Amino acid sequence: MTDKNALIAEDIRVVFGASDYRFVALDGINLKVASGEFAVLMGPSGCGKTTLLHVLSGILRPTSGCVWVDGTELTALGSAARTRLRRDRIALIFQKFNLLPTVSARGNVAIMKKLGASVGTSSPDELLETVGLGAKKDNLPSELSMGEEQRVAIARALYTDPAIILADEPTGSVDSANKTRILDVFEDCNREMGRTILVATHDENVASRAGRVIEMEDGKVV
Ligand SMILES: Nc1ncnc2c1ncn2[C@@H]1O[C@H](COP(=O)(O)OP(=O)(O)OP(=O)(O)O)[C@@H](O)[C@H]1O
Ligand SMILES: [Mg+2]
Repeated sequence: MTDKNALIAEDIRVVFGASDYRFVALDGINLKVASGEFAVLMGPSGCGKTTLLHVLSGILRPTSGCVWVDGTELTALGSAARTRLRRDRIALIFQKFNLLPTVSARGNVAIMKKLGASVGTSSPDELLETVGLGAKKDNLPSELSMGEEQRVAIARALYTDPAIILADEPTGSVDSANKTRILDVFEDCNREMGRTILVATHDENVASRAGRVIEMEDGKVV
């Protein structure tokens, strides 16, 4: 596979459930995202956007099909190697944030270094300031609003200096000022730092900032 593509998905199928209940969430997805591209995934709720981001990041193994990340076949790796590739190359910003409840905003960002990820030049404090949370660094997730939690998750993703950012509804819980702030941060990451960005969203404002819109419907790219 060429190294011009940061991500390649080939004929991805994801089937949830067992014999009595089966649901085809992804139904033969083929997709390439070029290195340095800023693309968005759009489509109705339930069409498979989150499932696809989970497959591309290696946290969900597809029922069948292959994924390449920067030329390495992710789906051929064992679980330890998959975790390493994800930690070193990809930041996934979850739709449901996945913050640690018992540590502060700062701690939730800083944890990545403790987990062995290599980190960029910006400190957790600087990143929290970038996303507008300078005053809330010491607060626990339970003391934050949804939009604030969302921005902690974004700061955490940026801390690892990832080549590829996968973001699942990153502006879903924020007001318009913070939406603009987040989109500016993404645009900076993409234009200035050459990072590859794929964002799942329902938001036309996000789509208008991206270079390409990938439409999904019923588990397929349309
Ligand atoms: N673990 C699971 N078991 C069974 N079905 C699942 C599971 N996870 C997701 N699904 C189903 O797969 C489909 C795709 O879900 P997914 O979360 O990828 O949608 P989405 O496009 O991200 O939607 P939204 O825009 O609402 O976030 C949905 O119909 C969902 O109910
Ligand atoms: Mg989703």
